[in-house]
Amino acid sequence: MKRTFSILISAWALFLLSSCTYEPYVEPEIVIPTDSVSFGDIEDIFVDRACTGCHPTSGGLDLTPGNSFASIMSNSLVNLTSPTESILYTKPASSGSHSKKYTAQQEVLVLTWIQQGAHNN
Ligand code: HEC
Repeated sequence: MKRTFSILISAWALFLLSSCTYEPYVEPEIVIPTDSVSFGDIEDIFVDRACTGCHPTSGGLDLTPGNSFASIMSNSLVNLTSPTESILYTKPASSGSHSKKYTAQQEVLVLTWIQQGAHNN
């Protein structure tokens, strides 16, 4: 009886150990784009992050598809001389002041698009 009991306890302990495999949280890998980033990809981000909900008008900025390029340029939100200082990049970045932010991957895409010359491509 005592033996059966200890076997049961060992089996239970083994089960506990095997079911508690440690799975570390892995940060999603950020891909640095090597190809040209199209402005269509950037407009998709504005829709994906629901920026367009406030930005047909908020801050005088229209980020809705078809209108966003002209609005970004007329608000001087892109700095081609110093891309990392572009307001379109810094304000909604993870370290930025905006309440709504890009994901880490989207942040990289926006910066790359600016570094590539911020074309309406
Ligand atoms: C809840 C409403 C709201 C959402 C959602 C929102 N914004 Fe804004 N945004 C504002 C308001 C209001 C301002 C103006 C006040 C300020 O500059 O903080 C602003 C300002 C900005 C500015 C600065 C404009 C300028 O001329 O200086 C940028 C750039 C911007 N938003 C980008 C974005 C992006 C990109 C997203 C999506 C990731 C986004 N916003 C989502 C409300 C919003």
